[in-house]
Amino acid sequence: MHPLFVANWKMNMVRATAYEFASRFLEDFNPLPDSRVDVVISPPFPLLGTLADALSKASGVALGAQNVHWLESGAHTGEVSATLLRDFGVTFPIIGHSERRQFYGEHDETVAKRARGAIDHGLQVIVCVGESTHFDSDAAHEVIREQLEVSLAGLEGRDASRLILAYEPVWAIGTGRAATPEIVARVHSFIRGELVKKFNALGMSVPILYGGSTTPENIGELLAQPNVCGALVGGASLKPDVFNRLVIAGREGFR
Ligand code: PGA
Repeated sequence: MHPLFVANWKMNMVRATAYEFASRFLEDFNPLPDSRVDVVISPPFPLLGTLADALSKASGVALGAQNVHWLESGAHTGEVSATLLRDFGVTFPIIGHSERRQFYGEHDETVAKRARGAIDHGLQVIVCVGESTHFDSDAAHEVIREQLEVSLAGLEGRDASRLILAYEPVWAIGTGRAATPEIVARVHSFIRGELVKKFNALGMSVPILYGGSTTPENIGELLAQPNVCGALVGGASLKPDVFNRLVIAGREGFR
């Protein structure tokens, strides 16, 4: 297995900077053997076309998105369907990011619908969970347990191969205060246990990413922890040289 690095650009970049990012990133990027994908870039929706063009000849890099609706089409102003995402070549939408949950009314029930709908439309989904304040305590585990229970309620064993989980403690996102390797190891092991309860042996193969203030400097130690299978990267994914260094250091540190 190899780690997965997902760039979450959030509400950043315009066409020119996205294009420049892609060309500079690809100059230095070394794909894994056999062109296996280990990097996903999730731009704002209007940049999907630009990035799809810029990455069209790249190997090892896939296109992501920052949300997806569960229905095929219809009267849903401001939403984007899985069908349209697939039309641009997206394979990995992020669902239930804490910024969507905190500021835009996303909740576990809608996360569950998005995950079910996106998988039914042939996508792989990255479902985000994470506590806001009670870090690394029984209360935090309880918050995460409930998020997992409701967000994954519509999925069954056969969906496990299309699921990626991301543990993103809200207090670590964009704060420069990443969770310590010890905290990450404990919470990922807890999440692994919950996934195994839900999917039995298939739960062992669901990748669990860590997200929250990852940098080229701290990624190696984080990915050296058991059950840490990659990273969801915000700030450090906006500069091509920094993101490249993070990917290199993460591959090296991965146990
Ligand atoms: P950050 O964001 O790396 O800037 O903390 C991570 C995320 O929100 O996905």
